[in-house]
Formats: sequence, structure tokens, C-alpha cells
Amino acid sequence: MCGIVGYVGRGEVVEVLLRGLRGLEYRGYDSSGIAVHDGRELVVVKRAGRIANLERALEGTSLCGDAGIGHTRWATHGVATDENAHPFLSSGGTFAVVHNGIVANYRELASALSARGVTLSSDTDSEVIAHLMESRYEGDVLAAIRSAVAELRGSYALAVLSACEPGVVYGIRRDSPLVVGKGRDGYFLCSDVSGIFDLCDEYCPLRNGEIVRLTAAGAELFGADGVRRPLCFLAEREDACEKGEKAGDRMLAEIREIPRSLCLGYDDFPREEIRSLLSEPWEDLLLLGCGSAYHAGLVCKGALREICGVEARAEIASEFLTSEPLVGPRTLAIVLSQSGETADTLRAAERVKSRGGRLLSICNVRSSSLVRSSDHVIVTRCGRECAVAATKSYCAQVQALLLFCLEYSDIKGKMASDKIAFLRRELAALPEKAAEVVAEEGRFVRLAGELKEAKAVFYLGRGLDYAAAREGSLKLKEVSYLFSEAYPSGELKHGTLALMERGVYGVIVATNPALYEKNAATIAEISCRGATPIVIAPPSLVSRYSVERSLPLPECPPLFSPILSAITMQLLAYHTAKARGCDPDRPRNLAKSVTVE
Ligand code: AGP
Ligand code: GLU
Repeated sequence: MCGIVGYVGRGEVVEVLLRGLRGLEYRGYDSSGIAVHDGRELVVVKRAGRIANLERALEGTSLCGDAGIGHTRWATHGVATDENAHPFLSSGGTFAVVHNGIVANYRELASALSARGVTLSSDTDSEVIAHLMESRYEGDVLAAIRSAVAELRGSYALAVLSACEPGVVYGIRRDSPLVVGKGRDGYFLCSDVSGIFDLCDEYCPLRNGEIVRLTAAGAELFGADGVRRPLCFLAEREDACEKGEKAGDRMLAEIREIPRSLCLGYDDFPREEIRSLLSEPWEDLLLLGCGSAYHAGLVCKGALREICGVEARAEIASEFLTSEPLVGPRTLAIVLSQSGETADTLRAAERVKSRGGRLLSICNVRSSSLVRSSDHVIVTRCGRECAVAATKSYCAQVQALLLFCLEYSDIKGKMASDKIAFLRRELAALPEKAAEVVAEEGRFVRLAGELKEAKAVFYLGRGLDYAAAREGSLKLKEVSYLFSEAYPSGELKHGTLALMERGVYGVIVATNPALYEKNAATIAEISCRGATPIVIAPPSLVSRYSVERSLPLPECPPLFSPILSAITMQLLAYHTAKARGCDPDRPRNLAKSVTVE
């Protein structure tokens, strides 16, 4: 969370920083700010709220310089105000700092600084960093930065300007991401390539402990040991998908990109590599992720049981970190993450590695920390996902996991080869079916008009449909702020049924013909308590359920319906958010990339 950017080079520094921040706004939008060395001193301009507020504050100023840093914030410590916005300037005006991460020991550091007469002007954990650097400065900026960060506990990616060294931007990181970019007119620092992808051709992700010194003439890298290292720039390939539609809401545009990304994902699945990995004698499969990525893991867990006869564990990364993990050399951990930068997921993956387990990551960002630390990788082919809600990345993860399960089932001899061939063909046909769902918008708009007044919305399902329902419920609450929970249908009668009454809606994901009677009973149970059912099922089942409100899905094997039902629920959530006047791309209190634990 939080996006940081730095630039040194030719051109309008302020404009370049603002462009970078606009590209990073999805990482946080509580406040934004910039610091520029204007030739005389460090000047900071920052505002609470969206970047548009910062732009207004800069209108009419003639702020310019040849180096600057910027920040777009997702608050962890201190509410979203102008005072708590980054950058922070040290009390003597010699250091300006932007920070992504959490300084765990900031209270101790703040008291020590106060005892030395430094007045802190914010409630954040980040401000101490600027003052610490100033207090450590003895004529060498690099040494002051090093000495200050040695005092910090927690995580950080920092971009630093010093009045003592004009025309230079420093970057350093520990456990929060930071990338160096090389453009035609100068050098950049950025939390991830999305802030600068149209400004740079080459990128170099920094490693923990590395520090980079950027000037208009070049970039110098020093390792954690202080030794100078060469910077290895990589060209970041852009996926075809992200060149698509840019107008309107990103969430909707990204849902519309799903059919195309499913085509690419199917064609590029690294089948041979996965088969050879799965031929090893694994004793334990572990699925790790957060939020939607964890939900994709739940689908895989169900599919592994159904078609491979394998009982896998699916764990929320932050929960996995709460106790000593049961992991050994015969554990294969499948780590799921769109960004590859989610702090809990990265820590969980490190924990697996340190206990001798192997890592297969399924990730959407080739240059991410997760991909770099994994033994095996499936890169999903969605292109950049900017809206906070995961949509196309969730579908791509589920697709990759289902392809994985088909290979595993084949290797384990759990299904007849003609059945596997049939399922592969069905999976190949899924993009067209996804396109049918995406094309049908009217019915979502109509239902959203009704749902927007709901007291609560329960998402119900059994088996794989329950895994899908969890994702549907997360999507709705995330973008529309309606109260929503997912529940296994069979569990309703053990407590949650007490909440069913008029004004409550039940979205019942009921795609499996084998569970028809049980799902019909759930519909009856909630209807007779006054709640309104909305059924998601293929037409052949919808007609049997005889309900007033339904969202029919194209027919497909129940094993694959979590992809189609997810798209349906994404569209329902999107249109409900619009009907309630919410911004689906920038939901309150959230950010796209959660780089703090
Ligand atoms: C859900 O729509 C997301 N906003 C969120 O739950 C996300 O899936 C989670 O933060 C994990 O992110 P990652 O895939 O980048 O690791
Ligand atoms: N902890 C800092 C703040 O609250 C940065 C937050 C972040 O990186 O998400 O301002």
C-alpha cells in the first residue's frame, strides 16, 4: 500500500511526479504529496484526498527543479489529513522522505527525537525517518540514510531527497517493494512499474537492503554490505490485454478483458513444466494467498479433492504466519497473488522456503518479489489490473489452478483419459462462455437497482459453489459497502437462518445438477422467512428452481463454473456499487496492493 515515486532528470519534474502518482493511485488514495528541490531548498506540497486535490494545490505555483519525490498514501498510522500526508520534511529542512511500510518502533524513536528537541508534526509512523536522517547527517547523505534505517524496525521502501545533495534521489527498501526505472530523460524510483510504465523502457527491482543513488547522469547501486554493485535493468514485457479499453471504470474494463485473458492463459499454460513438477512424490499440497487469491485457492482445494483424490490445505497467508507451520521438503506450496507484493503472502512464502518446502507461485506481475523468490512460476496473462477489486486476476488464477488439477489428475490416473480430454476441451471453450456473460449487462443493472436497498446480502453455495460464493460476497462488500457474508448453504440452519427476513437477499450459487435438491431446499428455506433469493445457475437448472430472480450462466461442467459464476458476481457487485453511487475502482479504506503486514 502507498505508492512512492522519485525522479531525477530533464523535463518538468512536477509533471513527471504527478504522472507517476496517477499510475500508482490504486495503491492508496488517502492523500498525496510531492517534494522538489527548487534550486534553493526542499519544497513540499501535500494534500489529503485524491491526487486531484494535490493538482489543484499546485495550480498557479511555478514549482520546478531537477529532482523530486512523491507519495500517494494508504494510511496505517494517523488519519487522512494534510499533516499526515507524505512527504515529511525534517525539522531543519535538510531531508524529505516518502515511505511505504510500517515503522514498528516509531513511538520509541519519536520519544528519543522529542527528548532532543525535535517537534513532530504528524501522527504517522513515517515522519520520524526524516528527522532521524537529519540527526545522523555528518556531511555524507548516503551514510546518514544508512545509519537512520539501521534504527528502524518494520518494513519500508523510501525515496529520499536531501537539501545537502541537490539533483540526487535516493531509494532504499526492506520488505516493501521498490523498482528503479531508466527512461530517456532520467531515472525513476517507483513502488511498481505501473507508475512509470509509459515513461521507462527498462526496470531493475531493488532487493532488500540495497540502496540506490540516482542522478540525471546515472544510477549507482550499493548492496546491503555497502559494496557497489552493477544495476541489471530488465525490459518489462507488456501483455496485450492491458492495451485494451481504458475509458470508464477500470473495474468494468477489467471484467470485459476476462475472455481475452482466459484465451492467453490457456495457450500459455506451462504444461510440461507443471507435469514434471507434479511427477515428484509430493506428500503435502499447501495453497496460500489473501483475499481473492485465497478464494481461488479454495476452488483449487475443492477441485483437487474431486478430480485428483488429494486433500490439500488452503490457508490465509496471515493466519498461516500465526504458528509454526507444518511444512517439510515434500511440501509443495502454491502461492497465489495478483501483485506478487502482498506482505502477508510474501512472508508466508518465505516461511515455507525456510522450512524446506518448494514454491510454485501463480502471479500476474513477472517482476514481482514473489516471482523472484519462487522455484516455479505460472505468470497469469491478464495484463495490469488497476481497479482495487480483483476480477480478471481471480479468473486467471482459477483457470491456471484448474489446468494444474487436470494435469495432476492425469498423472495420478484418477480420471479416464477421454474424460480428461473432454474437460480440457471444455476449459478451452470457457473464454467464449465468459464473453457471453460479459455481454449481458441489462439484467445486472436491473437487479442492482433492487439490491442497492438490501439490508444484507448472503452468498450461499455448496462445495465449489461455496468457494465461488465467498469471492462473490467479498466483491459486493468491497465495492458497494453493503453488508454481505458467504455461508455454506447447509450451515444456514445451524444459526445464520435467524437473520433471514424481508429486505435480506440470498444469492444462491447453485450450478451443480447433483446438488439440485439440496439447493432447492435452501431456496425454500430462505424464501419462507421473507428473504429474497437470486439464483446463479445454468438455464437447465434455473427453470427447475422456479424463482423470480436469476442470473443464468452458460452451461459448463460444474468444475469450471467458479469462473463463470465469479464473472456474474463481479458484474452484480459493479452495478450495485454504481447504483449506490460508490466508486468501484477506489473503494473506501482499501488499496490495491497490501504491502504491510
Ligand atoms: C479483492 O478484490 C482484493 N481487493 C484483495 O482481496 C486481494 O485479492 C488481496 O489483497 C490479495 O492481493 P494479491 O493477489 O495482490 O496478493
Ligand atoms: N505507515 C505509513 C503511513 O501511515 C505508510 C503506510 C503504507 O505504506 O501503507 O503513512
